Amino acid sequence: MRIAAISDVHIRPDDRDKELIREIKRRVEEISPDIFVIAGDISEKSDILQETLTALNLPDCTNLYVAGNHDVWFEESRGLGSLEKYTRTIGDACRQSGFIHLPDNVHVVDDIAFVGSIGWYDYSFKREDLEIPHENYVEKEWKGAYWRDYYGIDWIYTDIEATELFNSKLKYDLETLPDQIQTIVSVSHHLPFKALTLYKDYLPWDFYSAFMGAESTGEILLSDGRVLLSFSGHSHIRKKIEKNGLTAMTVPLGYGRPSDGDYKSLVHDAVAEIEIKNHTLHLHHFVDGDICEDLPYSF
Ligand SMILES: [Fe+2]
Ligand SMILES: [Fe+2]
Repeated sequence: MRIAAISDVHIRPDDRDKELIREIKRRVEEISPDIFVIAGDISEKSDILQETLTALNLPDCTNLYVAGNHDVWFEESRGLGSLEKYTRTIGDACRQSGFIHLPDNVHVVDDIAFVGSIGWYDYSFKREDLEIPHENYVEKEWKGAYWRDYYGIDWIYTDIEATELFNSKLKYDLETLPDQIQTIVSVSHHLPFKALTLYKDYLPWDFYSAFMGAESTGEILLSDGRVLLSFSGHSHIRKKIEKNGLTAMTVPLGYGRPSDGDYKSLVHDAVAEIEIKNHTLHLHHFVDGDICEDLPYSF
């Protein structure tokens, strides 16, 4: 089984990323995977999300999506709240564009299952030595610097409740898989392991690291015993780690755009290519680090 994976394409409005989308599709077609995974953060606007999924849909493979935090930012103009977007709007957009929204449906191929969750953060990634009070994490603010979900998420749950809610659903999905499943691929937007986070020893970066994910999500994946591979996004720095036979990687593209409009090498770096053969992982192409490092950011 061949898998192509990417996340965090953060599509700009007004068709400014038309060429980028075209190049991603071209590259994934070249890989010719059985499964194409996108691990969240296409757009805070649901119409851009749906248009992008429609453009990226590959008719000859199974297309899987997991919403990211940006995708569930509320849209006042459309009367859409974060919870409604996660539980309804994104699922509808996926259905209409030929994608499966994994948090709504696990995907099973023979004895391999794909499970998905947005995941969330419970501040278990925070750097204790910074001695930033707990209230700052709850408020998502430190010395005037705000984690942007402060402006975009309107569900009633605290972050710890949201993490527990999504973890419970993930656990349920794992526990109710058919008996024949031997290998599981997990897709979560937020990070399941602290080791996937890059701390940089400066603020507010290391304050924001607390909003990258939750250790409890990784514990669920590890305790299952069948999870071979975990994809996530959210952190725009690509990393790969191994833990008790589980390989976890982040596959973001990020906000950088080449000023000459040539997306080929950026997209080549961004799309990971993996194969699962006889329950063993073969990593054909994976680039780590910040692939947007030398590129101008464009929003
Ligand atoms: Fe992102
Ligand atoms: Fe994100």
